[in-house]
Amino acid sequence: MLEGPVLGVETSCDETAAAVVCGMELRSNVVASQADLHHRYGGVVPELASRRHVERLVPVVDEALERAGLDVPDLAGIAVTCGPGLVGALSVGVAFAKGLSLASGKPLVGVNHLEGHIYANVLVHGPFPVPALALVVSGAHTDLLWIPEYGRYRVLGRTRDDAAGEAFDKAARAMGLGYPGGPAIDRLSQRGDAARVPMPEPLASEDGYDFSFSGLKTAVLRAVRSTPPPDVADLAAAFQHAVVSHLVRRTVRAAEAFRPACLLVGGGVAANRALRDRLETEAQRLGVPLFVPPPWLCTDNAAMIACTGAFRLARGERAGPDLGAWADLPLDGASG
Ligand code: KG4
Ligand code: ZN
Repeated sequence: MLEGPVLGVETSCDETAAAVVCGMELRSNVVASQADLHHRYGGVVPELASRRHVERLVPVVDEALERAGLDVPDLAGIAVTCGPGLVGALSVGVAFAKGLSLASGKPLVGVNHLEGHIYANVLVHGPFPVPALALVVSGAHTDLLWIPEYGRYRVLGRTRDDAAGEAFDKAARAMGLGYPGGPAIDRLSQRGDAARVPMPEPLASEDGYDFSFSGLKTAVLRAVRSTPPPDVADLAAAFQHAVVSHLVRRTVRAAEAFRPACLLVGGGVAANRALRDRLETEAQRLGVPLFVPPPWLCTDNAAMIACTGAFRLARGERAGPDLGAWADLPLDGASG
Protein backbone atom coordinates (compact mmCIF):
# COMPACT_ATOMS: atom_id res chain seq x y z
CA MET A 1 0.00 0.00 0.00
CA LEU A 2 1.21 3.52 -0.85
CA GLU A 3 2.72 5.32 2.14
CA GLY A 4 1.85 8.93 1.26
CA PRO A 5 -1.58 10.58 1.37
CA VAL A 6 -4.09 9.61 -1.33
CA LEU A 7 -7.13 11.70 -2.20
CA GLY A 8 -10.24 9.67 -3.00
CA VAL A 9 -13.12 11.05 -5.07
CA GLU A 10 -16.53 9.34 -5.29
CA THR A 11 -19.50 10.52 -7.38
CA SER A 12 -21.02 7.27 -8.68
CA CYS A 13 -24.54 7.83 -7.38
CA ASP A 14 -26.07 10.36 -5.00
CA GLU A 15 -23.23 11.10 -2.56
CA THR A 16 -20.59 13.65 -3.45
CA ALA A 17 -17.60 12.45 -1.45
CA ALA A 18 -13.90 13.11 -0.96
CA ALA A 19 -11.47 11.66 1.57
CA VAL A 20 -7.79 11.47 2.36
CA VAL A 21 -6.17 8.23 3.45
CA CYS A 22 -2.54 7.94 4.46
CA GLY A 23 -1.32 4.36 4.69
CA MET A 24 -4.27 2.76 6.45
CA GLU A 25 -5.03 5.87 8.46
CA LEU A 26 -8.13 7.85 7.58
CA ARG A 27 -7.22 11.55 7.65
CA SER A 28 -10.55 13.01 6.49
CA ASN A 29 -13.86 11.79 5.13
CA VAL A 30 -16.41 14.22 3.71
CA VAL A 31 -19.75 12.98 2.36
CA ALA A 32 -22.33 15.42 0.99
CA SER A 33 -25.52 13.40 0.65
CA GLN A 34 -28.10 14.32 -1.98
CA ALA A 35 -30.87 12.38 -0.21
CA ASP A 36 -32.84 15.62 0.33
CA LEU A 37 -32.77 16.30 -3.43
CA HIS A 38 -34.03 12.86 -4.46
CA HIS A 39 -36.35 12.18 -1.51
CA ARG A 40 -39.51 13.53 -3.13
CA TYR A 41 -38.99 11.44 -6.27
CA GLY A 42 -38.64 8.21 -4.26
CA GLY A 43 -35.30 7.41 -5.93
CA VAL A 44 -32.22 8.95 -7.53
CA VAL A 45 -32.86 11.19 -10.57
CA PRO A 46 -29.64 10.80 -12.63
CA GLU A 47 -29.62 14.26 -14.25
CA LEU A 48 -30.19 16.01 -10.92
CA ALA A 49 -27.44 13.90 -9.33
CA SER A 50 -24.89 14.91 -11.98
CA ARG A 51 -25.69 18.61 -11.63
CA ARG A 52 -25.44 18.49 -7.86
CA HIS A 53 -22.05 16.75 -8.13
CA VAL A 54 -20.84 19.60 -10.37
CA GLU A 55 -21.88 22.14 -7.73
CA ARG A 56 -20.59 20.30 -4.70
CA LEU A 57 -17.45 18.44 -5.70
CA VAL A 58 -14.88 21.26 -5.48
CA PRO A 59 -16.02 22.45 -2.01
CA VAL A 60 -16.17 18.83 -0.80
CA VAL A 61 -12.60 18.13 -2.01
CA ASP A 62 -11.39 21.42 -0.47
CA GLU A 63 -12.94 20.43 2.83
CA ALA A 64 -11.40 16.94 2.74
CA LEU A 65 -7.93 18.40 2.10
CA GLU A 66 -8.40 21.07 4.76
CA ARG A 67 -9.53 18.59 7.42
CA ALA A 68 -6.52 16.40 6.58
CA GLY A 69 -4.30 19.47 6.99
CA LEU A 70 -2.95 19.02 3.47
CA ASP A 71 -2.77 20.72 0.12
CA VAL A 72 -2.61 19.20 -3.36
CA PRO A 73 1.23 19.29 -3.56
CA ASP A 74 1.37 17.05 -0.43
CA LEU A 75 -0.57 14.23 -2.11
CA ALA A 76 1.07 11.00 -3.25
CA GLY A 77 -1.80 10.16 -5.57
CA ILE A 78 -5.43 10.59 -6.59
CA ALA A 79 -8.04 7.81 -6.79
CA VAL A 80 -11.43 8.19 -8.42
CA THR A 81 -14.44 5.90 -8.87
CA CYS A 82 -14.72 5.14 -12.60
CA GLY A 83 -17.62 2.63 -12.42
CA PRO A 84 -20.03 1.03 -12.00
CA GLY A 85 -22.69 3.68 -11.40
CA LEU A 86 -24.63 6.44 -13.12
CA VAL A 87 -22.48 7.39 -16.07
CA GLY A 88 -23.23 11.13 -15.89
CA ALA A 89 -22.53 11.22 -12.16
CA LEU A 90 -19.31 9.20 -12.53
CA SER A 91 -18.11 11.49 -15.34
CA VAL A 92 -18.14 14.50 -13.01
CA GLY A 93 -15.70 12.84 -10.60
CA VAL A 94 -13.54 11.34 -13.34
CA ALA A 95 -13.22 14.65 -15.25
CA PHE A 96 -12.35 16.48 -12.04
CA ALA A 97 -9.75 13.91 -10.98
CA LYS A 98 -8.12 13.86 -14.41
CA GLY A 99 -7.91 17.65 -14.40
CA LEU A 100 -6.39 17.70 -10.93
CA SER A 101 -3.89 15.01 -11.88
CA LEU A 102 -2.87 16.79 -15.08
CA ALA A 103 -2.52 20.15 -13.35
CA SER A 104 -0.60 18.81 -10.34
CA GLY A 105 1.38 15.98 -11.92
CA LYS A 106 0.10 13.60 -9.23
CA PRO A 107 -0.49 9.98 -10.29
CA LEU A 108 -4.10 8.98 -10.92
CA VAL A 109 -5.84 5.62 -10.62
CA GLY A 110 -9.41 4.57 -11.47
CA VAL A 111 -11.21 2.48 -8.84
CA ASN A 112 -14.09 0.03 -9.17
CA HIS A 113 -16.80 1.14 -6.72
CA LEU A 114 -17.57 -2.45 -5.67
CA GLU A 115 -13.93 -3.16 -4.89
CA GLY A 116 -14.09 0.02 -2.82
CA HIS A 117 -16.97 -1.38 -0.76
CA ILE A 118 -14.86 -4.47 -0.03
CA TYR A 119 -11.77 -2.40 0.86
CA ALA A 120 -13.71 -0.29 3.35
CA ASN A 121 -12.91 -3.25 5.60
CA VAL A 122 -9.16 -2.72 5.22
CA LEU A 123 -9.47 0.77 6.68
CA VAL A 124 -10.87 -0.56 9.94
CA HIS A 125 -9.66 -4.15 10.18
CA GLY A 126 -6.36 -4.01 8.25
CA PRO A 127 -5.40 -6.34 5.37
CA PHE A 128 -7.68 -9.38 5.17
CA PRO A 129 -6.56 -13.00 4.74
CA VAL A 130 -7.14 -14.68 1.37
CA PRO A 131 -8.83 -16.60 -0.09
CA ALA A 132 -11.84 -14.55 0.97
CA LEU A 133 -15.56 -14.71 0.32
CA ALA A 134 -17.20 -11.30 -0.14
CA LEU A 135 -20.85 -10.28 -0.07
CA VAL A 136 -21.41 -6.87 -1.67
CA VAL A 137 -24.91 -5.55 -1.07
CA SER A 138 -25.65 -2.06 -2.33
CA GLY A 139 -28.37 -0.06 -4.03
CA ALA A 140 -27.48 -1.46 -7.44
CA HIS A 141 -25.56 -4.68 -6.75
CA THR A 142 -25.89 -7.94 -4.87
CA ASP A 143 -22.81 -10.02 -5.59
CA LEU A 144 -21.24 -13.00 -3.89
CA LEU A 145 -17.55 -12.96 -4.84
CA TRP A 146 -14.63 -15.32 -4.44
CA ILE A 147 -11.30 -13.54 -3.91
CA PRO A 148 -8.47 -16.08 -4.40
CA GLU A 149 -5.84 -13.33 -4.00
CA TYR A 150 -5.72 -9.55 -3.71
CA GLY A 151 -7.25 -7.84 -6.73
CA ARG A 152 -8.73 -10.99 -8.30
CA TYR A 153 -12.46 -11.71 -8.27
CA ARG A 154 -14.75 -14.49 -9.38
CA VAL A 155 -18.49 -13.95 -9.28
CA LEU A 156 -20.14 -16.94 -7.58
CA GLY A 157 -23.63 -15.47 -7.66
CA ARG A 158 -25.49 -12.23 -8.20
CA THR A 159 -29.02 -10.94 -8.27
CA ARG A 160 -31.16 -11.90 -11.22
CA ASP A 161 -33.44 -8.89 -10.83
CA ASP A 162 -33.41 -6.12 -8.20
CA ALA A 163 -30.42 -5.46 -5.97
CA ALA A 164 -30.99 -5.89 -2.23
CA GLY A 165 -30.82 -2.12 -1.59
CA GLU A 166 -33.11 -1.44 -4.52
CA ALA A 167 -35.61 -3.91 -3.03
CA PHE A 168 -35.42 -2.09 0.33
CA ASP A 169 -36.00 1.23 -1.47
CA LYS A 170 -38.93 -0.05 -3.56
CA ALA A 171 -40.57 -1.83 -0.61
CA ALA A 172 -40.20 1.33 1.50
CA ARG A 173 -41.81 3.41 -1.23
CA ALA A 174 -44.75 0.96 -1.37
CA MET A 175 -45.10 1.34 2.41
CA GLY A 176 -44.98 5.12 2.12
CA LEU A 177 -41.65 5.43 3.95
CA GLY A 178 -39.70 7.53 1.41
CA TYR A 179 -36.10 7.35 0.13
CA PRO A 180 -33.65 5.87 1.05
CA GLY A 181 -35.76 2.98 2.21
CA GLY A 182 -33.17 0.75 3.87
CA PRO A 183 -32.59 2.83 7.00
CA ALA A 184 -36.35 3.47 7.36
CA ILE A 185 -37.22 -0.24 7.18
CA ASP A 186 -34.30 -1.09 9.48
CA ARG A 187 -35.67 1.31 12.14
CA LEU A 188 -39.34 0.39 11.76
CA SER A 189 -38.62 -3.36 11.85
CA GLN A 190 -37.42 -3.11 15.42
CA ARG A 191 -40.98 -2.72 16.65
CA GLY A 192 -42.60 -5.12 14.18
CA ASP A 193 -43.34 -8.84 14.32
CA ALA A 194 -42.01 -10.60 11.20
CA ALA A 195 -44.10 -13.72 11.88
CA ARG A 196 -47.37 -11.80 11.32
CA VAL A 197 -46.91 -11.38 7.54
CA PRO A 198 -46.03 -14.38 5.36
CA MET A 199 -43.25 -13.84 2.80
CA PRO A 200 -42.06 -16.21 0.04
CA GLU A 201 -38.55 -17.66 0.10
CA PRO A 202 -36.75 -16.57 -3.11
CA LEU A 203 -35.17 -19.30 -5.28
CA ALA A 204 -36.04 -21.83 -2.56
CA SER A 205 -35.67 -24.84 -4.86
CA GLU A 206 -32.37 -23.72 -6.44
CA ASP A 207 -28.93 -24.72 -5.27
CA GLY A 208 -26.79 -21.97 -6.87
CA TYR A 209 -25.54 -18.75 -5.33
CA ASP A 210 -27.76 -16.32 -7.24
CA PHE A 211 -30.20 -13.98 -5.53
CA SER A 212 -33.66 -12.69 -6.40
CA PHE A 213 -35.62 -9.97 -4.65
CA SER A 214 -38.43 -9.03 -7.03
CA GLY A 215 -40.80 -11.63 -5.53
CA LEU A 216 -40.40 -10.08 -2.08
CA LYS A 217 -41.06 -6.62 -3.49
CA THR A 218 -44.25 -7.95 -5.13
CA ALA A 219 -45.29 -9.59 -1.85
CA VAL A 220 -44.97 -6.20 -0.11
CA LEU A 221 -47.07 -4.50 -2.82
CA ARG A 222 -49.73 -7.19 -2.52
CA ALA A 223 -49.80 -6.87 1.28
CA VAL A 224 -50.14 -3.08 1.12
CA ARG A 225 -53.12 -3.41 -1.24
CA SER A 226 -54.87 -6.15 0.76
CA THR A 227 -57.83 -5.35 3.03
CA PRO A 228 -57.18 -4.79 5.79
CA PRO A 229 -53.46 -4.13 5.15
CA PRO A 230 -51.01 -5.46 7.76
CA ASP A 231 -49.46 -3.19 10.37
CA VAL A 232 -46.64 -1.38 8.57
CA ALA A 233 -44.04 -2.25 11.25
CA ASP A 234 -44.96 -5.95 10.96
CA LEU A 235 -44.70 -5.74 7.18
CA ALA A 236 -41.31 -3.99 7.37
CA ALA A 237 -40.06 -6.65 9.80
CA ALA A 238 -41.32 -9.50 7.61
CA PHE A 239 -39.76 -8.06 4.47
CA GLN A 240 -36.42 -7.37 6.19
CA HIS A 241 -36.38 -10.83 7.73
CA ALA A 242 -36.98 -12.43 4.31
CA VAL A 243 -34.26 -10.35 2.58
CA VAL A 244 -31.72 -11.01 5.33
CA SER A 245 -32.52 -14.74 5.46
CA HIS A 246 -32.05 -15.03 1.69
CA LEU A 247 -28.69 -13.19 1.80
CA VAL A 248 -27.43 -15.14 4.80
CA ARG A 249 -28.52 -18.56 3.52
CA ARG A 250 -26.68 -18.12 0.19
CA THR A 251 -23.58 -16.71 1.86
CA VAL A 252 -23.42 -19.49 4.45
CA ARG A 253 -23.75 -22.15 1.75
CA ALA A 254 -20.88 -20.59 -0.22
CA ALA A 255 -18.77 -20.36 2.94
CA GLU A 256 -19.40 -24.05 3.66
CA ALA A 257 -18.53 -25.06 0.10
CA PHE A 258 -15.45 -22.85 -0.39
CA ARG A 259 -14.02 -22.61 3.15
CA PRO A 260 -12.66 -19.04 2.88
CA ALA A 261 -10.04 -17.60 5.26
CA CYS A 262 -12.51 -14.79 6.01
CA LEU A 263 -15.89 -13.39 5.09
CA LEU A 264 -16.03 -9.76 3.92
CA VAL A 265 -19.24 -7.76 3.71
CA GLY A 266 -19.73 -4.31 2.23
CA GLY A 267 -22.18 -1.89 0.59
CA GLY A 268 -25.05 0.21 1.96
CA VAL A 269 -27.22 -2.76 2.96
CA ALA A 270 -24.35 -4.03 5.16
CA ALA A 271 -25.35 -1.18 7.50
CA ASN A 272 -28.51 -3.17 8.25
CA ARG A 273 -28.65 -4.20 11.91
CA ALA A 274 -30.41 -7.53 11.34
CA LEU A 275 -28.04 -8.56 8.54
CA ARG A 276 -24.99 -7.73 10.67
CA ASP A 277 -26.35 -9.69 13.65
CA ARG A 278 -27.29 -12.76 11.60
CA LEU A 279 -23.94 -12.85 9.79
CA GLU A 280 -22.09 -12.50 13.08
CA THR A 281 -23.95 -15.51 14.51
CA GLU A 282 -23.36 -17.62 11.40
CA ALA A 283 -19.69 -16.68 11.07
CA GLN A 284 -19.12 -17.70 14.68
CA ARG A 285 -20.89 -20.99 14.10
CA LEU A 286 -18.73 -21.64 11.01
CA GLY A 287 -15.55 -20.43 12.70
CA VAL A 288 -14.86 -17.94 9.89
CA PRO A 289 -13.57 -14.45 10.75
CA LEU A 290 -16.16 -11.84 9.69
CA PHE A 291 -15.21 -8.34 8.55
CA VAL A 292 -17.95 -5.74 8.22
CA PRO A 293 -17.21 -1.99 8.17
CA PRO A 294 -18.98 0.29 10.65
CA PRO A 295 -22.27 1.57 9.14
CA TRP A 296 -20.81 4.94 8.09
CA LEU A 297 -18.24 3.13 5.93
CA CYS A 298 -20.85 0.76 4.45
CA THR A 299 -22.79 3.46 2.61
CA ASP A 300 -21.06 5.36 -0.19
CA ASN A 301 -17.95 7.28 0.79
CA ALA A 302 -14.59 8.23 -0.71
CA ALA A 303 -12.44 6.78 2.08
CA MET A 304 -12.95 3.31 0.62
CA ILE A 305 -11.99 4.63 -2.83
CA ALA A 306 -8.82 6.27 -1.49
CA CYS A 307 -7.91 3.05 0.33
CA THR A 308 -8.41 0.87 -2.76
CA GLY A 309 -6.53 3.44 -4.86
CA ALA A 310 -3.59 3.35 -2.45
CA PHE A 311 -3.28 -0.40 -3.00
CA ARG A 312 -3.50 -0.12 -6.77
CA LEU A 313 -1.11 2.85 -6.97
CA ALA A 314 1.41 0.92 -4.86
CA ARG A 315 1.25 -1.85 -7.45
CA GLY A 316 2.19 0.64 -10.13
CA GLU A 317 -1.22 1.08 -11.70
CA ARG A 318 -1.75 4.43 -13.39
CA ALA A 319 -4.65 5.95 -15.33
CA GLY A 320 -4.06 8.44 -18.10
CA PRO A 321 -6.13 11.29 -19.53
CA ASP A 322 -8.13 8.67 -21.43
CA LEU A 323 -9.68 7.27 -18.22
CA GLY A 324 -13.41 6.84 -18.85
CA ALA A 325 -16.54 6.36 -16.75
CA TRP A 326 -18.39 3.06 -17.09
CA ALA A 327 -21.96 2.38 -16.00
CA ASP A 328 -21.08 -1.34 -15.99
CA LEU A 329 -17.61 -2.19 -14.81
CA PRO A 330 -17.30 -5.89 -13.98
CA LEU A 331 -15.10 -6.74 -11.02
CA ASP A 332 -14.15 -10.12 -12.41
CA GLY A 333 -12.66 -8.32 -15.41
CA ALA A 334 -10.53 -6.11 -13.15
CA SER A 335 -6.83 -6.69 -13.67
CA GLY A 336 -5.19 -8.50 -10.81
O1 KG4 B 1 -23.63 1.33 -1.23
P1 KG4 B 1 -24.69 2.36 -1.24
O2 KG4 B 1 -24.56 3.54 -0.30
O3 KG4 B 1 -24.88 2.95 -2.68
C1 KG4 B 1 -24.75 2.17 -3.82
O4 KG4 B 1 -23.60 1.85 -4.19
O5 KG4 B 1 -25.82 1.80 -4.35
O6 KG4 B 1 -26.05 1.60 -0.96
C2 KG4 B 1 -27.25 2.30 -0.90
C3 KG4 B 1 -28.35 1.33 -0.53
C4 KG4 B 1 -29.74 1.97 -0.60
O7 KG4 B 1 -30.56 1.13 -1.36
C5 KG4 B 1 -30.17 2.00 0.86
O8 KG4 B 1 -31.56 1.88 1.04
C6 KG4 B 1 -29.41 0.83 1.44
O9 KG4 B 1 -28.16 0.86 0.81
N1 KG4 B 1 -29.23 0.94 2.90
C7 KG4 B 1 -29.76 0.05 3.78
C8 KG4 B 1 -29.44 0.53 5.07
N2 KG4 B 1 -28.71 1.69 4.93
C9 KG4 B 1 -28.58 1.91 3.59
N3 KG4 B 1 -30.49 -1.06 3.58
C10 KG4 B 1 -30.90 -1.73 4.68
N4 KG4 B 1 -30.64 -1.33 5.94
C11 KG4 B 1 -29.92 -0.22 6.20
N5 KG4 B 1 -29.67 0.17 7.44
ZN1 ZN C 1 -22.04 1.92 -3.14
